[in-house]
This record gives sequence, C-alpha cells and structure tokens, in this order.
Amino acid sequence: MFRTIQNKLICTFGNIMTDLIKKPFNVKEIREQFPALRQKIYGKNLVYFDNGATSQKPQIVLDAINLFYSKENANIHRGVHYMSQKATTEYEASRIRIQKYLNAKKSEEIIFTKGATDSINLVASSYGELLQAGDEIIISAMEHHSNIVPWQMLCIRKGLVLRVAPINKKGELLMEEFDQLLSKKTKLVAITHISNTLGTINPVKEIIQKAHAVGAKVLIDGAQSIQHIKVDVRDLDCDFFVFSSHKVFGPTGIGVLYGKEDLLDRMPPYQGGGDMISKVTFERTTYNELPFKFEAGTPHIAGGICLGTAFEFLESLDMVAAEKHERELAKYAEDILDTFEGLHIIGEAKNKTSVVSFTVDGLHPFDLGTLLDKQGIAVRTGHHCTQPLMDFFKIPGTVRASFAFYNTKQEIDLFVEAFEKSLFMLK
Ligand code: ALA
Repeated sequence: MFRTIQNKLICTFGNIMTDLIKKPFNVKEIREQFPALRQKIYGKNLVYFDNGATSQKPQIVLDAINLFYSKENANIHRGVHYMSQKATTEYEASRIRIQKYLNAKKSEEIIFTKGATDSINLVASSYGELLQAGDEIIISAMEHHSNIVPWQMLCIRKGLVLRVAPINKKGELLMEEFDQLLSKKTKLVAITHISNTLGTINPVKEIIQKAHAVGAKVLIDGAQSIQHIKVDVRDLDCDFFVFSSHKVFGPTGIGVLYGKEDLLDRMPPYQGGGDMISKVTFERTTYNELPFKFEAGTPHIAGGICLGTAFEFLESLDMVAAEKHERELAKYAEDILDTFEGLHIIGEAKNKTSVVSFTVDGLHPFDLGTLLDKQGIAVRTGHHCTQPLMDFFKIPGTVRASFAFYNTKQEIDLFVEAFEKSLFMLK
C-alpha cells in the first residue's frame, strides 16, 4: 500500500517541483517570514548569530506544526481511518520532497531519524556489523563529536582501527596525508562537509572518488552544509549523507539518513519494534522493506511532515544567491574583526562559509559571549563539540558567529559595536 501511495506522490511532486518559481533573493522579504527574528532580547533587537547550533523557523513551518497538532494528528502506516491515511500520505510526501531535493534515486533511500547524530549512530551500528577486526575507518581532525564517538565505540566493539586525517593551521584538510591513510583496509571515510567550528568546506567530491578507488564507502556529515549549499547526493556519489532538520529550518528531533539502496539493503536493522517488521513469530522475525526497515516505532510524525515544509521553503529560495550572501557576510565580519589587536580568527580556509570563530588574547570566550548576550547578540561560545580540534589549536574554545541567509551586514555592525563595548568592559 505504501508503495502505491509513494508512486502517486512521485507523480504529483514532479508537477509541483517544475511549477515552482524561485523569487529573487531578498533578505528583507526573507526576514519577514521568521517571527523569531523580530523580537527584543534584554530590550535590544535580537541579532541571531547561532545558526550553527540551530536555525530559526519560517512562518510556513510554524503554521504546519500548528496545523498538524490542531487537526491532523494521527499515527501513520497503521490506521484505516481518514486522519491516519492523511498523516501517512503527508509523511511519505515529505520523504519524496527530500529525495527530490537531494536528488536521491529513490525515496526508499531516505530514512527518517532523530537527527544527524542518530543517523551516524545508525550507520555505525548497522553498517558496522558488516565490518571485521582490522578494518579501518578514517575521520578528520575537524569532526564534531557526533562523527567521532560513534566510530570510537564501533572500533572498540569490533576491533577496528580509527585513523584521523590531519589539518593545517588554517583549518584545511591535508589531502596528501589523507591519501596516505587510504588503503585496502579502509572500509569507511566519515567526514564533515562543512566544519561547524571553522566553516571549512571540505573537498568531499575528491574525497569520495579517492575513497571509492580503494573500495571504501563514504559518509558525509551534512549537518552544517545542506542549509548553506545545494547538495546533490548522486553528483557527489556519497554512500551516506546525514543531516538534522532543526538546522535546516525545520523542527528539532527529526533528521535524515540518505543511503544508497544496495548498501541499506545489505545492512541489518538498527532497532527492533513496530513498523520495521514484515512478519513476527516467537521463533523469528522478517523485516520490512526500505525505508521502514530502519524506522522502528512511531516516528516523529509532525517533525517529518514539517521538515518537508522546511524544504518547500528552501525550494522557493535562490540557494546560489543565498550562499553568495552568506559568504559575503562571513567575509565582511572577518575583515572587521581582523582589525582588532589580539583577536585571532580560528579557521581561515580558502574555501569556507558562514562561520566566524575567534579568540581574543586574555579573554575567555564565555565572558565575551555573556556580555554579547546582554546586548541582544546570540553567539555560541566554547568547544562547539569539537574538543580534539580545540586541542589542535591549543585553545579552550572560541566565540562563534554563525550566519544564515536571513542575517545582514547591519546585524554584523551591531555585533561589532556590542563586541567593542564588551572588550571595553572586560579589559
Ligand atoms: N552542532 C551544533 C553546533 O555546532 C550544536 O553548535
């Protein structure tokens, strides 16, 4: 039955997608769609520069959440009644929308998870079962803890070896060293597309080609990329791609694992329970087909549906113009911050976007962040869940301003003004 629903939806969506007209990129108009940006914090206009941690939600997503819980709330894949069928249709329509956005071959390759972390844990747990003692996994020195710890746990469980590709002081991957790590033993390369702390954009296409040449699979952590740059999983040819909804203007508690169908088919289920089964007896269980094999239990239904709405919003944007705008914001902020004595930009990769991380001699990032907050500026301070990267730079943490396409140069001016006041108070 689900397959029939999916086929119908594919036809409907084909038309919707071609009918979509992208509006010219206009920050003022975009900002009007984000109510959270219009508030005052401690009596000051909010300047929200913590998009690396989570993004704000457009009205269309807020309305979709309200509508679902007000009128459409029902369980999916189970009920014969109208509401359950409607919720199922919408949930599966969202899967297809995401498939199309990522240019995945089939909607069966889109697995709903709790978020990027959950998606990585799924792969570590399930793909990890196919690996044997002595096999190697390569990550990079700039990974988020969520793309380190699951692999460490797997290595301990299965006797695998974890290798770390080094970076230079600018925060760029050292490709020659990466090449040296690749061998026939490499079974997986798990690497971030864009560093959450540095903003470095990694050359993932080249990495994927090189890894495939030795027979390794590649997982791309897209938690910080899909909201900034257009992702095409078939063009990348990655084996897995993961991201979280809440960073891409959707609700928290939901995310996606994209995986190539043949690989997902070979992988054992991650969790057992309802919906992921075909037939259960006390003696044995057979499993459902993709994607349901990896979706045990009642999922985050509203989250799945409203993530689809977030993609509907993204589809209406000129992502090329949005990316250009974000790069300009980061450059503008960096150029101003660079003029401050004792300030060090952490992450100066040639190819970077949307993130400006910095330290100031003699000041703790937390103190700066606290004073900025009191002036209405939201930034993240600390190690950003990248402690090994902080160790590499020999710093306890940074102040991080992370931008989205709805941010403006005027906001950066306010941020700099608040930053100068904070320096005055702290020095
Ligand atoms: N990973 C998120 C960040 O970088 C939470 O802030």
